[in-house]
Amino acid sequence: MGKIMVLHGPNLDLLGKREPEIYGRTTLEEINASLERLAADLGVILSIHQSNHEGDLIDLIHEAAQQCKGILINPAALSHYSIGLHDALKAVGLPVVEVHLSNIFARESFRSKSVVSPAVNGMISGFGKESYLMGLRALYALL
Ligand code: DQA
Repeated sequence: MGKIMVLHGPNLDLLGKREPEIYGRTTLEEINASLERLAADLGVILSIHQSNHEGDLIDLIHEAAQQCKGILINPAALSHYSIGLHDALKAVGLPVVEVHLSNIFARESFRSKSVVSPAVNGMISGFGKESYLMGLRALYALL
């Protein structure tokens, strides 16, 4: 079935310790392990990356165009202002599912807009780590 790139944006390396009342106590390693288990069931291979740097994520999106069939991304804070990430996703033209642990529409008003969303096939927000698993299933269905 091929490879799927999973991208975690800024500060998601701190999951588990970071505002657990909002993001939960699950660590990024645990989320990645759950994604790997689901991927094995689905028969897909994951290429998982986390970066706190917009440019690194853009480079990885460019790499995905060569190596992967689709992208699962939590752009984190970059969701709300990175036109560069939006443009990179548009440029590579792969199927993309955007996910958020929290419900970005139920929080501060600056989070209620994702400038990345117009460049993705669909978005899942508000289900904690389940958002990632639903996102992977949704992306798999698209492929
Ligand atoms: C987030 C929501 C963003 O607003 C925030 O900046 C994050 C995480 C989420 O998964 O809920 O870092 O993308």
